[in-house]
Amino acid sequence: METPDTLRYTKIPLNNGSGAMPAVGFGTLIPDPAATKQATKTALEVGFRHFDCAERYRNEEAVGEAMQEVFKAAAIRREDVFVTTKLWNTNHRPERVKPAFDASRRRLKIDTVDCYLIHTPFAFRPGDEQDPRDERDQVIYDSGVTLVETWRALERLVDEGKCKSIGLSDVTLDQLREIVAAARIKPAVAQVECHPYFPQWDLLEFCRENGIVVQAGAPLGHGMDPKVLDDPVITAIAQRVHKTPAQVALAWAVQRGTAFLVTSRTASRIQENFDISSLPEDAMREIRHDITTNVRRNPVVETGVPGFIPRAR
Ligand SMILES: NC(=O)c1ccc[n+]([C@@H]2O[C@H](COP(=O)([O-])OP(=O)(O)OC[C@H]3O[C@@H](n4cnc5c(N)ncnc54)[C@H](OP(=O)(O)O)[C@@H]3O)[C@@H](O)[C@H]2O)c1
Repeated sequence: METPDTLRYTKIPLNNGSGAMPAVGFGTLIPDPAATKQATKTALEVGFRHFDCAERYRNEEAVGEAMQEVFKAAAIRREDVFVTTKLWNTNHRPERVKPAFDASRRRLKIDTVDCYLIHTPFAFRPGDEQDPRDERDQVIYDSGVTLVETWRALERLVDEGKCKSIGLSDVTLDQLREIVAAARIKPAVAQVECHPYFPQWDLLEFCRENGIVVQAGAPLGHGMDPKVLDDPVITAIAQRVHKTPAQVALAWAVQRGTAFLVTSRTASRIQENFDISSLPEDAMREIRHDITTNVRRNPVVETGVPGFIPRAR
């Protein structure tokens, strides 16, 4: 009898003893709240048990409603689901961190957050305006707070018990090194752009050495040109293993040791993205060595301005 493939149920232990993260994650960066709610429900129903959210996506309420409805109707419990959310750039001042965290918990309708991330290492002018701009439409940054000071405030959230693990998002390797060196509670997670066209092997290696889980955002390359899913290496493997190109890219992400956060609004694709199976070793080698394209898609690491979230005005 054939052994069932369990890749889709992979869990990655977190370094602070606070459990494990399902490697297969659903990203909720969907601008329309009704579409967010529907996609989140579908993702839960097909088997996703890890959801990536953010106050900046302005749809945490829709994610929270979807989770509540599924928890009530189906045999899925809150404790079976891993929820990540993120502190936005305008809330980096230490006194703003806990109120922002509590507001996310309230919108998501959850008591504890499994993982809380600093969304980007850039502090913007504190306030309710998520995209503060001057008269020349330039971002107004906040030079009155350091990343380490914000990190200390996240450490206090862990101390207080409502936040199980903390980490960083959209960081460079140097910024990650700085926080690892300064931290009392080491980052458990680094969420960065990662896909076959931007594999970030050096960052992955550093994270491996330091017990940090890499969450691969945009594991399909944001669906942008040049398209990961049209790459001849990926499509040839897909044909060989009788899977779709998306399933190949997602299986590769898990087998190289990362979690991934994939987004789709389409029910059939949500199902497809969960139904991954292990790739043979030669396929893993081909993706690593035969694909030479190396392009970052999201400029957010240089500016703190998200490339894929509409401006809030
Ligand atoms: N930390 C950050 O700053 C940051 C930045 C970006 C993303 N992220 C995280 O990463 C998640 C994913 O990012 P993303 O949506 O930009 O990139 P992605 O998941 O790499 O790509 C999504 C695109 O691929 C399409 N797609 C999904 N499944 C497919 C399939 N099976 N076959 C063909 N096309 C498929 C989607 O279209 P349809 O919807 O039409 O299916 C959408 O256009 C976000 O939701 C977020 O959680 C984080």
